This record gives sequence, C-alpha cells and structure tokens, in this order.
Amino acid sequence: MRLRKIYYKLPIKLRYVVRRLYYLPIDIWTGIFSAKQELIPPKGKIFIGSGDFYKQGQNHLEYLKKYTNITPSSKVLDVGFGIGRTAVALTSFLDKNGVYYGFDVVASGVDWCKKNITKKFSNFTFDLVDVNNDLYHSSQNSAESIRFDYKNNFFDVVFLFSVFTHMELTEIEHYLKEIYNVMKPNSYCLATFFLYDSDSEVMNNKDFQFPFKYTNYRLMDAKVKGANIAIKQEYLLDVIGQIGFENKKLIKGYWSMTHSKDENDFQDILILRK
Ligand SMILES: C[S@@+](CC[C@H](N)C(=O)[O-])C[C@H]1O[C@@H](n2cnc3c(N)ncnc32)[C@H](O)[C@@H]1O
Repeated sequence: MRLRKIYYKLPIKLRYVVRRLYYLPIDIWTGIFSAKQELIPPKGKIFIGSGDFYKQGQNHLEYLKKYTNITPSSKVLDVGFGIGRTAVALTSFLDKNGVYYGFDVVASGVDWCKKNITKKFSNFTFDLVDVNNDLYHSSQNSAESIRFDYKNNFFDVVFLFSVFTHMELTEIEHYLKEIYNVMKPNSYCLATFFLYDSDSEVMNNKDFQFPFKYTNYRLMDAKVKGANIAIKQEYLLDVIGQIGFENKKLIKGYWSMTHSKDENDFQDILILRK
C-alpha cells in the first residue's frame, strides 16, 4: 500500500521511467541468459501492473471463453489493451477470419503491440487515442469527448480488463454507451470493476481501501482519480440497464475480501448482453 501511494505521487512520465529502471537489471539478465520468449514484453515495459503477463492473459482468454460467445472467427474489441496481455493470448485462439481491434492511451504499449503482434498477425490492429487519464497519459482531451471509431453493430465481443477500475465515473458511462453502439445485437461485453454495496466493503481489505467518498463512487487516491475507483453496484447496474444492456452475470472478485480467493478473480467481472 505504501509503495503504491509513492508510485501515485510521481508525475505520469516519471512512473514509466522508474519502472524501466527498476526492472533494467532483470531485463538485461533475461535478455542475455534466457531463451527469447516470443510475445512477452520486457518487465520494465509492462506498465499495467504486476503478475505473470502470460498466465494472466491466458486467464483473460478463459473468462472470455466461459462467459461470452467468443469463437475463433469473432470480431473483438479490447478497450484499454495496455501492452497486449489479452491480445497475446488471443493470437493462438482467433483464426484468420477473426478480427481484433484494440485502443489505448499509452503510446509505448501501442508501439510494442504493433511491432510484435501486428507484424505476425495482420488481423490484429492497435490504435492510440489521445485522451487524458491521470494515471497513464496526460492530454487536453477528455475521454468523454471521443466517439468509438468503428461501425455500429460490428463487434461480437467487447472486453475491458482492469480499465473501468481506472477511469472516472462519467467517462465510464460515456464508454458504456459507445460500446453498446458498436456491439452486434445478442453480443457480449465483459468488463471488470470494483463494485460495492456497503461502505464497510470498500474498507475491508487493509491493503486495498477506497477512503475518499463521493456520490455513487469512492476513490483510492483523491489526487489521482485514475488510480482505482470503486462504484456503487446498484447505481452502475441502473446505468447499464438504462443504456439498454441486459445484466447477464456478476462474478464477485476477492478484492474486498468478502469472497473466496480460490474461486474468484481479484476484480469483479460483469457480463453484459446487448
Ligand atoms: C491496468 S491497465 C489494463 C490493461 C489491459 N486491459 C490488461 O488487462 O492487460 C489499464 C489500461 O487502461 C488504459 N486506459 C485508461 N484510460 C483509458 C481510456 N480513456 N481509453 C482507453 N484506455 C484507457 C490504460 O492506458 C491502461 O493501459
């Protein structure tokens, strides 16, 4: 928790530099002495959090297979793809008829994915959008100002792993509306959140608390809004229903320590159907 607080205090650009330097010795060591791992970025470039990049990508794919109608020929949209953790897993699932689109605000992630994934898998497209997120990218443009640059009713599956946990509530509402437009009828959206029913739930885990309270949401850090957001479950489900989504399933995560670690993922997983 203390390390996380220090990390949030750093200016955005410095966060990337610190990560690169911190992992430089291990990246040099791996580069020289380990067999080259295809499609795994150096640790210092993985700005999306800790954990096993490959294994977590495979977990994401398993969730998509379990909870959505994804097939090898699906058209999928990965909003906030980071540095391609889920995309890498999808390279061995989608076939030549499958289409992958992703967009993100971090140029280094887009560059790595284009160089390493699109070069081999031409049906994978990674785009950069210049919108502000105070954890990841500084810009004059707000996420609420963008329109998703895809045809309406185009995608079979849209997913966001650990993205709506880092955006502001009004931005999330705007993205959900855009997502609804680009989804085909009867298609699925999988998105992860921190959702709470009671105020005590957001303070239950002493290493992962949301002390700053606002109407319908709580923040981990009041100065870095993109750090982590928890949303009142009743409010979000109401918004989702108003947009037109059917709420198919909510799989509670163990972040608040109210659900078992064995069966659940850290974040809450929400499955929506258009
Ligand atoms: C924790 S990372 C998760 C990345 C990826 N989904 C994964 O699971 O590996 C959150 C990502 O959301 C992206 N992001 C934040 N705000 C965004 C926005 N408004 N539009 C698109 N991506 C955004 C960040 O740049 C970052 O790559």
